[in-house]
Amino acid sequence: MQSTLRTQVLKAVAIVAMASAAVSCRTQAPASSTGTSTSTTSASERLTNERLTEQSLIPMPVSVTATNNLFELTSNTDIYVQDGSPELRNIGQYLANLLNPSTGLGIGVQTTQRAPKQGNIYLALRNDAALGDEGYELTITRDGVQLVANKPAGVFRGIQTLRQSLPARVEMTSQQAGPWQIPTGTIRDYPTYEYRGAMLDVARHFFGVEDVKRYIDLIAAYKMNALHLHLADDQGWRIEIKSWPRLTTHGGSTQVGGGKGGFYTQEQYKDLVRYAQERYITIIPEIDMPGHTNAALASYPELNCDNKARELYTGIEVGFSTLCTEKEITYKFIDDVVRELAAMTPGPFLHMGGDESHVTPMKDYIPFINRVQDIVEKHGKRMIGWDEVTNAKLKPSTVAQFWAKADYAKSAAQQGAKVIMSPATKAYLDMQYDSTTKLGLHWAAYIELDSAYIWDPATMVPGVTKAHILGVEAPIWTETLTNMEQLEYMAFPRLPGIAEVAWSPSTVRDWNTYKVRLGKHGARLKAMGINYYPSKLVQWSEQ
Ligand code: ACM
Repeated sequence: MQSTLRTQVLKAVAIVAMASAAVSCRTQAPASSTGTSTSTTSASERLTNERLTEQSLIPMPVSVTATNNLFELTSNTDIYVQDGSPELRNIGQYLANLLNPSTGLGIGVQTTQRAPKQGNIYLALRNDAALGDEGYELTITRDGVQLVANKPAGVFRGIQTLRQSLPARVEMTSQQAGPWQIPTGTIRDYPTYEYRGAMLDVARHFFGVEDVKRYIDLIAAYKMNALHLHLADDQGWRIEIKSWPRLTTHGGSTQVGGGKGGFYTQEQYKDLVRYAQERYITIIPEIDMPGHTNAALASYPELNCDNKARELYTGIEVGFSTLCTEKEITYKFIDDVVRELAAMTPGPFLHMGGDESHVTPMKDYIPFINRVQDIVEKHGKRMIGWDEVTNAKLKPSTVAQFWAKADYAKSAAQQGAKVIMSPATKAYLDMQYDSTTKLGLHWAAYIELDSAYIWDPATMVPGVTKAHILGVEAPIWTETLTNMEQLEYMAFPRLPGIAEVAWSPSTVRDWNTYKVRLGKHGARLKAMGINYYPSKLVQWSEQ
C-alpha cells in the first residue's frame, strides 16, 4: 500500500510519617522507600502512599520536590479561583468537570480575593517571569493545593499535572471509590519549546467534529498547544469555502477507499476553534498546494491548465496533481480560500502545504510559493509550509516544517525562518511500530516507542539548533486509518513521548526512566478509554 513516490523521497507524576526529609530531584527518584506507615494507616491509604517524585508524570516536569505527605480531596473540597479573571473561572470549571464524574465529590467553583481555607484547591495568577506564558507552579501540602502561573494558559497546563498526580481512576467517567489523595510537594515547570503540536489528516479519511474534539482533549492532557488540521488533499476537501462551494459539495464527497467523506461547515470549524481555544490550543488549518490538490481540481475545471475537471480520487498515491500555476484564476482561488480561512482562524498561522509537488516544475513551483506567501501575509497571517517550500525565498515570518529533507530544514534556518521539527522517521504517528503492525504504513521507518522518544530536536539536523526551532509536531496521516480506535492505537502511546520531547528539557529526558513512568501511566491511558499499543518494550502495570 505504500506510496512509491514517498519512498523515493525518503529512502532517505497524611497520614504517613515518613522518616526522610524533603527529596528534591530533577529526574524520577527511584521507587525506593515505602515509608513506615503508622498503625492507624488503613490498607487503602497505604496503597496510595506514593511520593510526588514517584508519580508517572508525562511530560516530565522541569523540577519536582516531594515533601512526603498527602492531601485528600473530600466532599468539602472546592476550587477557588482568584477574583477578576473570567478565564480562570472557566479553567476552574474545566477542572471541576474533570474531577466530579469519577470522584462524585461535587466539587464546586468559587471566586476569592485571597487563598482559601484548608482543604481546597486554589488557582491564581502571579507575576513570575521565569514561568513564561505556559509555565506554572503547583504546590501541594496536607492543607491544600495551590496552582499559580503568569498566564491562564500556565494554570491550564498545570491542571494536567495535577490530574496526573491523582489516582488513574480519576480519569474514568463513572463514579469510582476513593480515597482521592495527592502526594505533597512542589512542581515548577515550563516548556522547552513554544510550539508543541499534533497534526490530524482529515482529508484521506474524514473525522467528524466529535472525533476532533476527542483528539483535542487527548493532546491537551499532554500539554500540547497546537492542532494542525490537514484539511485538503487529493482525496477530499474538508472545509466549507463559501465563494467556491463545489470544493466541499463535490470535492468533499468521498475519501480513500470510496467512502462518503465529509466536511466541516464554517460554523462547525469555528466551534472546533473555540473548543481548542478553551484548552489553550491553536488550530492551524492546512490547505495543501500546489500538489495534493486533486479534490479541488475535480471540483473546478478552471483550476486545471487544460480546463478539464479531474476525476475524484480514492487511492493513496501522491505527487500526481498540481494547480495550474500559470493561470490568474488560480491566485484568485487561493486569495478567496486564504481570506475565508483567515477570517475564521484567530491563530497566527495558515499552513499552505507545498510538499510532494512532483508534477510542478521547480521553475513554476518557486514563484508560486513566493506568491502564496504574499497572499497569506496580505491576509494578516504567517505561512507554514512543508520543508520543500525552502526552495522559494522565505520571509522571516514564515515557518518551514521539517519532515523529510535535512538540507531544506538547514536552508530554512539559514534564511532566518523558524523550523517545526516533524521528522517522519521519529514523529510520524501513522508509521507502523514494527513489521507486525496491521495499521499504518512504513515508508519512512518502523517506529517503536523507544525510537519515537529517543531524539533531540536541537541536534537532529546539523545547522538547525534550538534557536532556529519553533517547536515539535507529531503528524498522523490517515491513508489506512478510518476511525478513532485505529487513530488512537497509532498515536498512543507515542504521542505522550513526543509531547515530552517538546515540553521537557533534555536534562530530564531518559528512555530508561521514561519507560517505567509510561508503564505506570498505562492504567491512566486505560482509564481515559484510549486504545493504545501495549509495546513489549514497556512493563505495563496492572492497576
Ligand atoms: C508529507 O508527509 N508529505 C509532508
